Amino acid sequence: MNILILNGPNLNMLGLREPEIYGDQTLDDIKGMCAQWALDHDWRVDFRQSNHEGELVTWIQEARGAFDGVVINAAAYTHTSVAIHDALKLLDVPIIEVHISDPKKREEFRHKSFIGPVAAHVIAGQGAQGYVLALEKLAEVL
Ligand code: DQA
Repeated sequence: MNILILNGPNLNMLGLREPEIYGDQTLDDIKGMCAQWALDHDWRVDFRQSNHEGELVTWIQEARGAFDGVVINAAAYTHTSVAIHDALKLLDVPIIEVHISDPKKREEFRHKSFIGPVAAHVIAGQGAQGYVLALEKLAEVL
């Protein structure tokens, strides 16, 4: 299986960014965890991050027909982006929404997700391990 893992804005700052909320693992650490999981399961993962909504939308559009599943932590765009919601609707593969923290237990503005309605599953509040849990969920679903 070939999986696209997308990360939204500020996730490149993991490790430095609010470690009391997001832990001290960097995005590179998480990429390594996903790569190891993929190796162990003979899957491929393409792990990307962007601070730009349009770039994420383009990557999602390009994923049509190219991947068997998508894992997405859209970060702050989760709560704002109709454009990412619409792009994800173009896909006919399972989508897993991931959050390191649990947005539903944080400020009210984080309670709304534009990804949720198009996601097969949501994994939140499991820390960096949530990415591996998302891959495991995809293995169940696919
Ligand atoms: C996040 C939660 C979002 O509310 C926040 O804007 C992020 C990270 C998470 O992984 O917990 O940037 O998606």
